[in-house]
Amino acid sequence: MAAAVPISEVKGNTRENRTAAHSHIKGLGVDNEGRAKPADKGFVGQVAAREACSLVVSLVQAKKMSGRAVLLAGGPGTGKTALALAVSQELGSKVPFCPIVGSEIYSAEVKKTEALMENFRRAIGLRVKETKEVYEGEVMELTPEEAENPLGGYGRTISHLLITLKSAKGTKKLRLDPSIYEAIQKERVRLGDVIYIEANTGAVKRVGRSDAYATEFDLEAEEYVPIPKGDVHKKKEIVQDVTLHDLDVANARPQGGQDIMSMMGQLMKPKKTEITEKLRLEINKVVNKYIDQGVADLVPGVLFIDEVHMLDLEAFTFLNRALESPLSPLVILASNRGLTHIRGGENLPPSAHGIPSDLLARLLIIPTHPYTPQEINSIISTRVKTEGLAVSPEAIDKVSQLGEKVSLRYALQLLAPASVLAKVNGRENGQVQIDDVNECEGLFLDARRSAQNLATTKGFIA
Ligand SMILES: Nc1ncnc2c1ncn2[C@@H]1O[C@H](COP(=O)(O)OP(=O)(O)OP(=O)(O)O)[C@@H](O)[C@H]1O
Ligand SMILES: [Mg+2]
Repeated sequence: MAAAVPISEVKGNTRENRTAAHSHIKGLGVDNEGRAKPADKGFVGQVAAREACSLVVSLVQAKKMSGRAVLLAGGPGTGKTALALAVSQELGSKVPFCPIVGSEIYSAEVKKTEALMENFRRAIGLRVKETKEVYEGEVMELTPEEAENPLGGYGRTISHLLITLKSAKGTKKLRLDPSIYEAIQKERVRLGDVIYIEANTGAVKRVGRSDAYATEFDLEAEEYVPIPKGDVHKKKEIVQDVTLHDLDVANARPQGGQDIMSMMGQLMKPKKTEITEKLRLEINKVVNKYIDQGVADLVPGVLFIDEVHMLDLEAFTFLNRALESPLSPLVILASNRGLTHIRGGENLPPSAHGIPSDLLARLLIIPTHPYTPQEINSIISTRVKTEGLAVSPEAIDKVSQLGEKVSLRYALQLLAPASVLAKVNGRENGQVQIDDVNECEGLFLDARRSAQNLATTKGFIA
């Protein structure tokens, strides 16, 4: 077998949910026949775009979409980011989804093409089946053994960890290295949990709670699992989902030699390890071999680039090429620009959405449209419910009118301050009334009024 790729050292790459602005969106709300319901899963209207996105989801799941690109194009606040988020929810957690904003690639430390490449590889998953030597069972005992701190001082340190695991065929007492204690604490292992410890790496994984405890409480978000069959010490097939980027990181060697100076340096400031093109090619080779041998499956995911007009000519050219490589995810772009100059190409004629025409020619374009007054009303009511606000029906109508007149964004943003005002104004049950909305409208300008304001007032630096 080729150079071993240490898959177990890999960390996950789950990102935090970027915005709470979309917390009401729970999916695309499209039924099995591919028809979008007028309002479902938090989504209202935008039916054609939702159906198109659902088709894209099916194609990704059938692995027929990699190497292609989709563009969500429409005015501000028409739900492009919300659609992309819903696509990721429909894909589930097993398909990698990597969201970035166009401007994220500009950094003083990393080249922009490098940053793009990294995100491309975050969006390609690999499902690896491995047989590993493990200790698996229900935790019967978990005792850290303490000792005097060898470095002096008053504290005590943990010298060993005693752990007893029980399986269907017997129990085994293990005496483990203190480093495993940290891993156990991270997984929040308690007595009565079923866990396994990898013999070679010491990685700990909590499988669930032993079903012997299943009747303790009725309301619990716990996964109960039976006591593992067979011996405590055994070989087990483990399925892991990693991304190509995880593999790159796990195999990149830290820079610097072994001398004491560099060790001090590492203590003080962990250096960013470098992932070279050579390393990536090497990893691709190993990955392809695993796929051929049937040890691993490729899971092409989705790279979502929001505000794509922030990319410049160089980045677009790179995107063109990267889309053609055999290991490529589906790329979803979103832009709210019309005919505009491409960044870095100000001397070229303006191009649609600020995207060069050669890339445009490869895109499937999904348009999003402005909402009708009823839809705006419905979106605002949904938001009011998710944010747990009390708003009178008249006030909702007033906010919806602002949504039509100004923008959906502006209307949504007024909700939270209006509810604070309602409390300050001593409304019954803190319910927002029309007056609170009017007051808020006076306090916070929208973009157009702010611009008018600038034209008539002095005192700003021009
Ligand atoms: N059809 C919809 N149903 C429910 N909520 C929606 C819908 N469309 C948009 N929203 C909500 O309205 C707000 C604005 O939408 P979103 O951020 O997706 O717009 P956008 O098209 O990405 O705009 P921009 O071009 O400014 O980035 C968000 O809070 C979003 O969740
Ligand atoms: Mg957006």
